[in-house]
Amino acid sequence: MMAADQHHPTAATPAQFAESPFSRVLQQPLILGLFLPIQSGGWSASLLPRTTDWTFDYNAALTRRAEALGFDLVFGLAQWTSKGGYGGISKYREDSLDAFITVTALSAITERILLISTIHVLFGSWHPLHIAKFGATIDHISGGRWGMNVVTGYSPREARMFGGLQIEHDRRYEMADEFTGMACRLWGASDDLTLQGKFWSVDKAFVTPKPLFGRPVLVNATGSPAGIEYAAGHSDLVFITSPAGHEIDAAFDALPAHNAKIKAAGARRGRELRTIINPMIVCRETDREAQRYHQAILDAADRGAIDGFVAHQRDGDAVAWKAHGDTHRALGGNIQIIGSPQTVVDKLVGLKRVGCDVRFRA
Ligand SMILES: Cc1cc2nc3c(=O)[nH]c(=O)nc-3n(C[C@H](O)[C@H](O)[C@H](O)COP(=O)(O)O)c2cc1C
Repeated sequence: MMAADQHHPTAATPAQFAESPFSRVLQQPLILGLFLPIQSGGWSASLLPRTTDWTFDYNAALTRRAEALGFDLVFGLAQWTSKGGYGGISKYREDSLDAFITVTALSAITERILLISTIHVLFGSWHPLHIAKFGATIDHISGGRWGMNVVTGYSPREARMFGGLQIEHDRRYEMADEFTGMACRLWGASDDLTLQGKFWSVDKAFVTPKPLFGRPVLVNATGSPAGIEYAAGHSDLVFITSPAGHEIDAAFDALPAHNAKIKAAGARRGRELRTIINPMIVCRETDREAQRYHQAILDAADRGAIDGFVAHQRDGDAVAWKAHGDTHRALGGNIQIIGSPQTVVDKLVGLKRVGCDVRFRA
């Protein structure tokens, strides 16, 4: 880490400001969010006709509706594919909007909802000063509602697209730790900052305007020891997967210990971590109708897309997804909730009971 840490205090967190949009969200009994379908095919490698769409106009209408319904956040993932996306008849996820740019535009047409975008901070030549400046800008456009999901890039194929080689798993987190730490110091510094890190340095750099509430919301998605340590040092929200795979009832057994482990890692550093998880929800009037619809999604599976996506995941080194096989990919998601409105509510309450702060995608 940087030698001059003690002389360069880091930024305050948005949770330390009672009036921040993030603090308002934390008062909710459940944090409810929506995964934006900014990639064609979303999370479901199925050819069953659907109404969701990757276009900006669709996602803008969806976000406005989510805000009107009282959702707390929207979230966009980031990925890099070759022509044809992950393959199949659907060319799964070939079309995709960039999450950072998309949520910046969404921030100007919404008022209350948090907007989180995923950024591969180690691809290409991102510098902490870029993120500090761009982040402060979107923070001001959005009124303190922007959050950054820091990802290090689990896919060697994506790393190669940027002309680099895959960096070893834990070293990526060491780099992300320095990257995020430097951006936070730039957000917090009241004077020019000169820092020499192991991977990045800044010389008399200064960022103003400052973020409205210390710094943007910080998020990372992980299940590995190195990723949890990174989260303990930086994140406000940790995106988790179920260590037991996509089955919701198995998740209820596995998640208490998993959540407790993550929250304890934060507590050891004097920080409170909230965990969020993304169930794919299929909801119809009755359980039977929801199951029938789920079956129709499976029957229309785009096998080529599933095989392509599974191969992509297999090439990567993401620890968090290790327990997830390929059987559920036609519907997709991290865990799945299928049923009537009452069933869905019961399962979401169940997730809260096992220690998640919960968000979902329908
Ligand atoms: C809900 C969720 C969303 C994710 N979104 C992205 C993403 O947009 N882009 C990406 O490259 N990785 C994404 N990941 C993968 C993570 O960056 C990371 O590789 C994965 O969680 C494994 O981390 P670990 O090896 O520390 O467990 C996501 C993971 C989860 C759980």
